[in-house]
Amino acid sequence: MTDSGAAATGWLIDRSLEALAAGQHPSGALIASPDFRPYHFCWVRDGTFCAYALDRWGRHQAAARFYRFVAKAINDFMRGQGLESDGSTNSAFPPTRFTLEGQVADDGWPNFQLDGYGTWLWGLSEHARLSGSSRLWDEFAQPIEFLCRQLEHLWPLPCFDCWEEDGERVHTSTLACIATGLHCAGSATNRLSASRAAEAIDTFVAEHAVLDGRLVKSIGRRSIDASLLWLSMPFPVAPVEEAVRVETAEAVRSELGYPGISRYQGDRYYGGGSWPLLTAWYGWCCVSADQSDDARQCLAWIEEQAGPDGSLPEQVDGIRRDPFAYQEWVRQGGRPARQLLWSHAMYLVLADELGCHAGQAAVP
Ligand code: BGC
Repeated sequence: MTDSGAAATGWLIDRSLEALAAGQHPSGALIASPDFRPYHFCWVRDGTFCAYALDRWGRHQAAARFYRFVAKAINDFMRGQGLESDGSTNSAFPPTRFTLEGQVADDGWPNFQLDGYGTWLWGLSEHARLSGSSRLWDEFAQPIEFLCRQLEHLWPLPCFDCWEEDGERVHTSTLACIATGLHCAGSATNRLSASRAAEAIDTFVAEHAVLDGRLVKSIGRRSIDASLLWLSMPFPVAPVEEAVRVETAEAVRSELGYPGISRYQGDRYYGGGSWPLLTAWYGWCCVSADQSDDARQCLAWIEEQAGPDGSLPEQVDGIRRDPFAYQEWVRQGGRPARQLLWSHAMYLVLADELGCHAGQAAVP
């Protein structure tokens, strides 16, 4: 990397760490985006990846505040519903997002999304590994027990996917998140039923989510989705062969654009542009596959998408964006998020994977 390239990277790393710090509410919640009204909530999914990035960059206290926020929100949810749930119904499952004060927003959002809580359990175990303290597992014994019980029962049910769509199907990346989260919880808390359920999911994915040597977006639906990269990093499902993961990543690259990767073909949301966070994900997979030139190209592409103040958007114009769908969304909902914390988080993960250094920001 040239000196000016390293300086640009250091600058954007600083801006990204600042964005995460500024986006954390005193409650510990991490806002999805400060400039896009519908995203003035804390998503468990986005927030966990932000907390993971914070942990990777040594901000363990900020990460712990987020984990405590979610644990408290789950406890409040359980109490609010008067639940001693046996985990057999989806209405007893906590929502995908909370207000910044930790309340459930009663606004008809497609809340039944199982991936975020699997991701949260994985994030907790990464927090313990990176911070050197497993205290939170003990502190959260009750919400963890509740979540495990729920996920162990609910994983075979259709739910909304990580893009909050298609609630009629069972999604491969969702299963990978749940399996990884249950494996983590099983080994951290010696909960045998969690480990057993995780193994059952692994087997199910290997048997039902691979077709013609590639992973499929959802069970029974042969198409590619960028979230399938998650089965390379960081949610590998052990019985899925490495060759299947490689073939899937290649399909993502050829079908969804490189380096600016979009979610899936036919995506209508703001016309389906290119997502910096997915490009960072692809770069992360490249690092683990020893293709660091491609990973650096991903990093450079993301840097080109940053606004003058260092904001990383949710999506940008890309080869796939449908201009009519884009205009229609803008007309109805305003411009898409200009600063998405999850984009910053994934940029930080990739920059760390590549051994890049921050600029001036001191660790608070
Ligand atoms: C995305 C979700 C994300 C949410 C908040 C939605 O448009 O599809 O994956 O969690 O925005 O960023």
